[in-house]
Amino acid sequence: MERVIGVIGGSGVYQIDGLEGAEWVTVDTPFGAPSDAVLTGTLDGVRMAFLPRHGRGHVHTPTTVPYRANIAAMKQLGVTDLVAVSAVGSLKEAYAPGDFLIVDQYIDRTFAREKTFFGPGLVGHVSVAHPVCSRLSAACTQAARGTGVTVHEGGTYVAMEGPQFSTKAESELYRHWGADVIGMTGMPEAKLAREAELCYACVAMITDYDCWHPEHDAVDVAQVVAVAQKNASKARDLVTALPALLKGEAEACASGCTHALDSAIMTAPD
Ligand code: ADE
Repeated sequence: MERVIGVIGGSGVYQIDGLEGAEWVTVDTPFGAPSDAVLTGTLDGVRMAFLPRHGRGHVHTPTTVPYRANIAAMKQLGVTDLVAVSAVGSLKEAYAPGDFLIVDQYIDRTFAREKTFFGPGLVGHVSVAHPVCSRLSAACTQAARGTGVTVHEGGTYVAMEGPQFSTKAESELYRHWGADVIGMTGMPEAKLAREAELCYACVAMITDYDCWHPEHDAVDVAQVVAVAQKNASKARDLVTALPALLKGEAEACASGCTHALDSAIMTAPD
């Protein structure tokens, strides 16, 4: 089986460099149009597909991002390994703005988004106990280390609805829960990737200390954008290192991402 690497880029990451045969392709899905056209091409002999999560020009809010269409588009393009890049706030002193964190758990606090490909007529429940692909996450860690950025391996991402940032009380609550970073787009993306049987990993680019930190009273967009832009080149370096790391990989995913539906369907076949 051919490996195809998909990348969903967040704030500050709107393209990937050096793609051979680069072409923006329009994709239609049964779940509507994705956030934008998808940039396809080849890097180190590996097919790649890149989608800016908020669209070029940043037009989709965290709530209106068409998460189902985005995952469906990646699946339709043959993507096997999907890497999400997301700007996040830090909930811990040790995770500083500018650092990257490779997410391994989520707390999903979103409530105004379509969260499943299942529905009346076809009922299914996939496991998201281990919501990311450990193999793909390890490759992201290795690729991130190669960029020279400070990388934290593993951490819990609180996905909030937004679009407003958190209150101080909420920020403190998430810290008490033991969460590490906070963002607005990690869910339902990870859950939908699992339903689509894609290997999924999330590279969280830390842009701020949210509002809990005594020396950082409030987070604002200017700060998020400034740090995201400063680190976007590191995120792009990380992404361009992935084909070389993944192309020799065995076909089967040891994390079971590619068999998520084997025991998930409740509805009896016709
Ligand atoms: N994205 C970047 N920083 C964030 C924060 N502090 N809260 C939620 N989403 C974010």
